[in-house]
Amino acid sequence: MKKVLVLHGVNLNMFGKRDPEHYGTLTLDEINEQIAMLANELGCLVQIFQTNHEGEMVERIHQAHQEKVNAVVVNAGAWTHYSYAIMDALGILTVPIIEVHMSHVQAREQFRRFSVIAPVTKGQISGFGVNSYLLGLRAAWDLIKISDE
Ligand code: DQA
Repeated sequence: MKKVLVLHGVNLNMFGKRDPEHYGTLTLDEINEQIAMLANELGCLVQIFQTNHEGEMVERIHQAHQEKVNAVVVNAGAWTHYSYAIMDALGILTVPIIEVHMSHVQAREQFRRFSVIAPVTKGQISGFGVNSYLLGLRAAWDLIKISDE
């Protein structure tokens, strides 16, 4: 079975409690439930990981390389905008990476409009709340299927 790794970065464990205007009211557990339901429907295995520690995130990405995951969906939170370490770690992977954001980052403060991880991703989906993750998983799944043909 094909494996997709979903990564949630710094502060994302606070979804549901933080800035509902931008991030809505769903908790991370509720978001993860919806991701798991869609994965089940698509027929893929999904692994989900959240950390507030940059080094832990880097190590989880290295592990994904070892485990040969087939695609990654990543919301790196604020790391998106400045972490060359996360970008370099993701850049080691040779599988499709989809960047997602709950909020519409292009419509927010200037610093959020730039993603340092974008060059190592296939594309970015932002602004659709939990649907950003679900669309990201669908995009990852389509890319896995195309690479299998
Ligand atoms: C976010 C957007 C980032 O700018 C922010 O730092 C976050 C969440 C989003 O999901 O909209 O923590 O990645």
